[in-house]
Amino acid sequence: MPADLEQLEASALADLAASDSAAGVEAWRVAYLGRSGKVTGLLRSIAQVPTEDRRAFGSAANALKDRLEDAFGQRLEEIRQAELRRAATEQRLDVTLPGRPYPRGRLHPITQTLREITAAFAGMGFTVAEGPEIESDYYNFEALRMPKGHPARDMWDTLWIDSGEAEPTTLLRTHTSPNQIRVMEAQQPPVRAIVPGKVYRYEATDATHEWHFYQVEGFAVDRNISMAELKGTLAEFARRMFGSKRKVRFRCDYFPFVEPGAEMSIDCFACDGRGCRVCKETGWIEILGAGMIHPEILDRVGYGSEEYTGFAFGMGVERITMLRHGIEDIRHFYQNDLRFLQQF
Ligand code: PHE
Repeated sequence: MPADLEQLEASALADLAASDSAAGVEAWRVAYLGRSGKVTGLLRSIAQVPTEDRRAFGSAANALKDRLEDAFGQRLEEIRQAELRRAATEQRLDVTLPGRPYPRGRLHPITQTLREITAAFAGMGFTVAEGPEIESDYYNFEALRMPKGHPARDMWDTLWIDSGEAEPTTLLRTHTSPNQIRVMEAQQPPVRAIVPGKVYRYEATDATHEWHFYQVEGFAVDRNISMAELKGTLAEFARRMFGSKRKVRFRCDYFPFVEPGAEMSIDCFACDGRGCRVCKETGWIEILGAGMIHPEILDRVGYGSEEYTGFAFGMGVERITMLRHGIEDIRHFYQNDLRFLQQF
């Protein structure tokens, strides 16, 4: 092989070995094997070679070109493999790593209790209704047998919407009982309904008082409904909500819209009725007010108290939730502290 071909091959191979990236190898290919590359130029220069040497020169130059092309292909493959290895170590994906936990949403504890209460009564044939939070004096008090100036109004500290007026008439409902009237006005007996909803009281907050909270109202009106239905329904509710171990107790209480009126307590879940801090040493925890719907109210909504009787009850949802989970401060529910809320 002519000396200049040997020299060209040596320097080409050295250059190739020094190229260590795909781009570098490609530049090498252009410089040597490209259209105006050195080897291509060499092949073109065959015209200047003396006739007797042409055949030898031509085959040597072509062989050189073939070897350089092979070398190029090998080097390119080496570099590709090296780049793959680098990617495999530098960008390694550890498939054994545990996944990142996704934060899961959940229902607010009060919503959970509301749904359980609703399910318990739905299972006993009660329908669900709703009413307005902004209510009139008429539905909140007057229609429930508390005319203006009636002392029983003081049982509910009221947030008036139009307190600037000489005679305020619009308020934030202090209880869900106005919906007894609203539902009975809209439906003919027999009726069995519950009305969950938010209520408001003009109150300073402390561990057991909030200025807004939830109640569930419930009532049933039909022929021949007696106090026995009230007791049976509410005892069954307590069993579904608190388990069959809990006992219930009914005692007299007063609400202007029921006669007779009652309150229901369950024996304390914390001490099994022996007396402790949770039940204030009484062994019992009051969970709702109830009674037989006053005949005047049945007449007012056009049901006719000669023919129909009914019972009604109202319970505090926060209170029931606190009892079931041993929560000691009602204010936790509305402070939106996720550390509290995520426990339910
Ligand atoms: N509305 C009463 C309260 O807020 C509870 C109640 C409802 C009592 C129905 C009797 C009948 O305290």
